[in-house]
Amino acid sequence: MRQPERLVFFLLLCSPCLFHVSHGRRPTSTPQKAKDSAPAPPIRAVNLGGWLVTEGWILPSLFDGIPNKDFLDGTQLQFKSVTQNMFLSAEQGGGTIIVANRTQASGWETFKLWRINESTFNLKVFNNQFVTVAGDGVTVVATVTLPGPGEAFQIVRNADKTRVRIRAPSGKFLQAKTSDSVTADYDGESTNWGNDDPSVFVLTVVTGLQGEYQICNGYGKAKATQVLRKHWSTYIVENDFKFISASGLNAVRIPVGWWIASGSNPPPPFIGGSLQALDNAFNWAQKYNLGVIVDLHAAPGSQNPFEHSASKDGSQDWGKTDANIAQTVQVIDFLASRYANCPSLLAVELLNEPLAPGVSLPALTKYYNDGYNAVRKHTASAYVIMSNRLSASNTELLEFASGLPGSVIDVHYYNLFSSAFDGLTADQNIDFVRTNRSSELSTVTRQNGPLTFVGEWVAEWNVGGATKEDYQRFAQVQIDVYGRATFGWSYWTLKNVRDHWSMQWMISNGYISLNTTS
Ligand SMILES: *[C@@H]1O[C@H](CO)[C@@H](O)[C@H](O)[C@H]1NC(C)=O
Ligand SMILES: *[C@@H]1O[C@H](CO)[C@@H](O)[C@H](O)[C@H]1NC(C)=O
Ligand SMILES: *[C@@H]1O[C@H](CO)[C@@H](O)[C@H](O)[C@H]1NC(C)=O
Repeated sequence: MRQPERLVFFLLLCSPCLFHVSHGRRPTSTPQKAKDSAPAPPIRAVNLGGWLVTEGWILPSLFDGIPNKDFLDGTQLQFKSVTQNMFLSAEQGGGTIIVANRTQASGWETFKLWRINESTFNLKVFNNQFVTVAGDGVTVVATVTLPGPGEAFQIVRNADKTRVRIRAPSGKFLQAKTSDSVTADYDGESTNWGNDDPSVFVLTVVTGLQGEYQICNGYGKAKATQVLRKHWSTYIVENDFKFISASGLNAVRIPVGWWIASGSNPPPPFIGGSLQALDNAFNWAQKYNLGVIVDLHAAPGSQNPFEHSASKDGSQDWGKTDANIAQTVQVIDFLASRYANCPSLLAVELLNEPLAPGVSLPALTKYYNDGYNAVRKHTASAYVIMSNRLSASNTELLEFASGLPGSVIDVHYYNLFSSAFDGLTADQNIDFVRTNRSSELSTVTRQNGPLTFVGEWVAEWNVGGATKEDYQRFAQVQIDVYGRATFGWSYWTLKNVRDHWSMQWMISNGYISLNTTS
């Protein structure tokens, strides 16, 4: 690399788009799009999922180096006493004793992990208290609101990981001596894991999360820093932007987490450094003439219980206080201010998939109002995208957003995640998009209302044995219908170990073709 190039490269890394700003090519606050500004709607975009916000199912191998990797934060466990042949249960869901008298396991019989390290955990029960040992030093109860050293239980697993013993902080093991008393007073260091040992429990791993919280806390700070920085610099590279541009797309939607605004040392367990990757994305987008939608996918406290909001254990606490909303507005302010002068900044999406009723409509509209103003402080031309609440009316934001110039409503359309699609044939799925989705979209798309954006969709369904041609028709009908959204659409996602979820694979293998279609 010659010296002047190195200097420009250095400046680009330090301050995205400084190169262009320094040449004064674009006034910062004109509402019209300057010549080298982001592409205008209709947008045909792809999400860069699983890059700056971890989702294990997109790239499971990222988790491979975590010891005891199926015991991450939020993993739900059930324990069946081998001597009682009954499940452990937090009586009343929590607040009192742990018993071993349930033949079936459900909510009260499920314990969520908070991981201290690979073998030591806090156990959270249905009503959100933590398991501890009562003042008598023996009785096991679920009464603690915020866990400390007294709630740190070691979980010892047998060789094939189907059975466990749970060691209390005292060093003694939990045992189910009778069906209605679980005590922390079993002395035997060793066991043959047989059905006669009251300290042995059959383990069921019900479900787990593989999000940013889990990967960071699972590896621990030092290793997570290594793993994630490598991922950020190798998973999405300049060549991907070249591919996206050459494929007939004109924008990318980039999910980011709130910690991206916290510098190099965000609150634990999160890891700093994703901002550098986002800076790179802006520079590549500019080079390949792509717009960038910065999408706040994980807000502080988590706006839904899913791993993609970086939830610790499935809890959803975003928007419950004004301070939390103000903190989120700060993140938007930071992002808008950093990228306002980048010609490729197309839009800021204030929040991805808030879930009702946990996120209330008043909290959300307060945040959208303040977040909108934070963006407008820095740019008059970037669109401001607002995601509809999941499980709520898809028109509830229309009136509110109509008063905000440049606002866009984001709806996500998957023929999945609902029993409505169970047993549908390929043709029925295609008809559903053609009739039901298009009528849904026209309900949201109003004259003088906000623009509309299908910010996530995929050519995947619950159809067994579908042919390539079925998939092609399914992708095409969605491109046709979602092409009527006034802002545009974005496929979920660019890369994925599951082929149909990877737009790169779908394009490379001829399932989706944009250059030759509408
Ligand atoms: C895990 O944490 C516990 C409690 O702090 C500690 O006693 C134990 O040594 C730790 N184990 C490992 C493997 O780091
Ligand atoms: C389990 O034991 C507790 C404590 O003795 C008792 O209150 C409860 O009714 C029992 N539940 C069942 C299903 O046996
Ligand atoms: C789709 O729309 C059709 C026609 O309006 C309706 O009969 C059908 O119930 C809808 N399907 C679903 C799954 O909502």
